[in-house]
Amino acid sequence: MPRPAVGDGRPWVELCMVSSIDGSTAFDGESRGLSSDTDREVLLTLRRFADVIIVGAGTVRSEGYGAPRKPGQRIGVVSRTGAVDASSALFASGAGFLIVPEDAPHSSIESVRAGVGEIDLHAALRSLPGNPAFVHAEGGPTLNGALAAANLIDEINLTTSPQIVGGDGTRLITTAPPMSHRFHLAHLLEDDGFLFSRYLRAD
Ligand SMILES: NC(=O)c1ccc[n+]([C@@H]2O[C@H](COP(=O)([O-])OP(=O)(O)OC[C@H]3O[C@@H](n4cnc5c(N)ncnc54)[C@H](OP(=O)(O)O)[C@@H]3O)[C@@H](O)[C@H]2O)c1
Repeated sequence: MPRPAVGDGRPWVELCMVSSIDGSTAFDGESRGLSSDTDREVLLTLRRFADVIIVGAGTVRSEGYGAPRKPGQRIGVVSRTGAVDASSALFASGAGFLIVPEDAPHSSIESVRAGVGEIDLHAALRSLPGNPAFVHAEGGPTLNGALAAANLIDEINLTTSPQIVGGDGTRLITTAPPMSHRFHLAHLLEDDGFLFSRYLRAD
């Protein structure tokens, strides 16, 4: 589906996540136990559309990120500290880069710097390498909270996994102040009990 231009010089931001019925985004500290083959195919399909992927440093640390399959695709890792493993496949391949505040510690890794103290996500999105039109965000909940607080989520592709998992896995969005941004349901598909919903920004 072609995404409309956003209009203020930033790319369209699509967020892709999987959650249990009871709202957890992690099982045993990872999203893997919530996913399915079809869910992974949805994720890979959305990745293929994207020029740039963004992901929080916590997710990169807990899930392990390698180089993307799509040639030339870049993965921006959002971090306050820049404390990531520069020798990992993601960064050694040249695909990975950092998105950090201007006053973050120096890093040998290519960095987009925006905002002082806190990342200015609007400015960061307008400064991404290659000036992408479509950015695919892969969480986690802390990054999602910052994107939601800045009203930067245009589309949500949410898989609901047919299980309850208890525990203390976080919701889709955490650390954001109370807010209400409306979305409308663009489609709802089912496979093996998994629900695949796509929501688009309503306002
Ligand atoms: N179910 C799913 O689809 C899904 C998807 C992704 C992740 N997860 C799960 O979520 C859990 C991780 O959650 P999380 O909330 O810690 O993930 P996260 O948002 O990926 O990571 C948090 C870290 O990312 C950096 N960060 C995020 N937003 C930032 C911002 N606005 N400004 C500056 N730095 C920012 C900070 O890194 P620094 O500490 O480096 O400053 C922060 O400590 C894991 O269990 C993972 O498996 C689930």
